[in-house]
Amino acid sequence: MPEAHAQAPATGVPSLAERYGATRRLTEALCAPLSEADATLQSMADASPAKWHLAHTTWFFETFLLRDRAPGYRLFDERWPFLFNSYYETEGERIARPRRGMLSRPTVAGIREWRAHVDEHMEPLLADPLHAQLIELGIAHEQQHQELLLTDIKHALAQNPLGPAMWDAPAAVERAGGNPAWHEHPGGIALVGRRGEGFAFDNEGPAHRVLLEPFALAGGLVTNREWAQFIADGGYATASLWLSDGWDWVRRERIDTPEYWREGEYFTHSGWHARDPDAPVTHISYYEADAFASWAGARLPTEFEWEAIAQGHDPAGGNQLDDALSPIPLGDPSLFGDCWQWTRSAYLPYPRFAPAEGAVGEYNGKFMSGQFVLRGASCATARGHSRASYRNFFYPHQRWQFTGLRLAKDL
Ligand SMILES: [Fe+2]
Repeated sequence: MPEAHAQAPATGVPSLAERYGATRRLTEALCAPLSEADATLQSMADASPAKWHLAHTTWFFETFLLRDRAPGYRLFDERWPFLFNSYYETEGERIARPRRGMLSRPTVAGIREWRAHVDEHMEPLLADPLHAQLIELGIAHEQQHQELLLTDIKHALAQNPLGPAMWDAPAAVERAGGNPAWHEHPGGIALVGRRGEGFAFDNEGPAHRVLLEPFALAGGLVTNREWAQFIADGGYATASLWLSDGWDWVRRERIDTPEYWREGEYFTHSGWHARDPDAPVTHISYYEADAFASWAGARLPTEFEWEAIAQGHDPAGGNQLDDALSPIPLGDPSLFGDCWQWTRSAYLPYPRFAPAEGAVGEYNGKFMSGQFVLRGASCATARGHSRASYRNFFYPHQRWQFTGLRLAKDL
């Protein structure tokens, strides 16, 4: 990388080129422990092979930056966009998502060559402010796929009766004792949504006013110990606690614990381990979160209640993904980190929302149907990726992400 790009500005804030390089390297580091077979596994239609994430994030830069903005650039392989386009209708036909696990070729080594080729050709673009906004989107996109890569490979490895480990178990944590105090809010008009400088996704804006009634948001996430009490109290077998759709789902899928629980253990990227009772519960669906809140005499927060509290907190704090790779919720008191928090807010456009121009307008807006918003960040979210206005979203039955809950109540 030329020295002019690699130098951090005097402020100490990493340059765009440095952040691009760090993001690209982290994705490869996450794949380093995987065999070719591991990286090719697709354990369900919602998940993608690790190898596909390695490739798709590269497709994004090759397509929207190099193909569209670097005159004379030739595609590394003209057949590959069909394999590694995710959902962009404007980019044409693509392999069906449930068939991504059929891609025994190209190999991981072939995809790594492609990554190096694209990185080399990205260098001049990284220095040109004209492309900065789109490169920011590409970096944020790759960070989102780092998290998906981790949750997808966790699901894949969990299917193996041997319970394979990608990494050694993380060191045990020391916790401050006692339950953190609830965050109280007096209610009133709050300004929510993305304001000011810095990158944000289009779905985080425009900023607008909302009216809040007085409420309180729990200081900590619900723990495995509390979840075990819910189970022992018959939580999964008590219809009155559940939304109708949730009750149908629990019975149809025969759900009676969070994903990855068995006896006193849970599955992690480091294999099966004794469950930490004081760590936050994770891998729960919206339906489970809602039923627990009913059992606990509380409710889920709205996304705006959560944001009004989070505006005063450090979004890069807490247990998030950095160099200590093996992600596991630990029970940090930060509002961000450990696991994404279900809200009771439907994922809908804000007033005056308009998707971005061009193909990248397909990034968020077209998914605003039938999903719920999650706030915060998880132990698998790249540190620095999230913020108070950040809106994650999943369908209410999905739980292979690091999803947990923080209770709310009316005051
Ligand atoms: Fe993507």
